[in-house]
Amino acid sequence: MPQASGNFAGRKPACVAAAVMLAYMKPMKRNILLHPDPRLKKQAAPVADLSDELRALADDMLETMYDAPGVGLAAPQVGILQRLVVLDCVKGENERPRPLIMFNPEIVSSSDQMNVYEEGCLSIPEQFADVTRPAEVEVRWIDQNGKEMQETFDGLWATCAQHEIDHLDGKLFIDYLKPLKRQMITRKMVKMKRELARA
Ligand code: NI
Repeated sequence: MPQASGNFAGRKPACVAAAVMLAYMKPMKRNILLHPDPRLKKQAAPVADLSDELRALADDMLETMYDAPGVGLAAPQVGILQRLVVLDCVKGENERPRPLIMFNPEIVSSSDQMNVYEEGCLSIPEQFADVTRPAEVEVRWIDQNGKEMQETFDGLWATCAQHEIDHLDGKLFIDYLKPLKRQMITRKMVKMKRELARA
């Protein structure tokens, strides 16, 4: 998920596409795939063992996420179909960052209480929509040291964890929207990708 919907606030709509294009043309540690892309619709494979290569990928993903800037990134978004996500939903400038690396993350329980958040996605830049999800989720994962972790998340952390884990199952936040809205966003993205390819 991207950091906030205000990245290009204040600019005229016509300039938004140009600003996004510039952001996506700058060199990133790992290139982020843009929707629509068949790789974003695939099921990712469980991580069998924690290789140095996978740990390096996780570090690259964190760097790419902070750079974007975003609050979460899943491996399929950089073209790697493995169950790995990174997130850091600490928003305050004076707060200490909390980068989390999750291998094989799993939601073990969800609250009945729901929460609505305006979501976005680094693979669908500048498109935002309200998505309803459980307000609290208990997540189990393997950290970068191979240790099994479990924690209950709420607020933005809960939304972000669910959004990123969805990516591992080929699911995007726009899949929660009504077909018409989803098609509209997809059409805008097709156009943006065409412009990016031409640039
Ligand atoms: Ni996303």
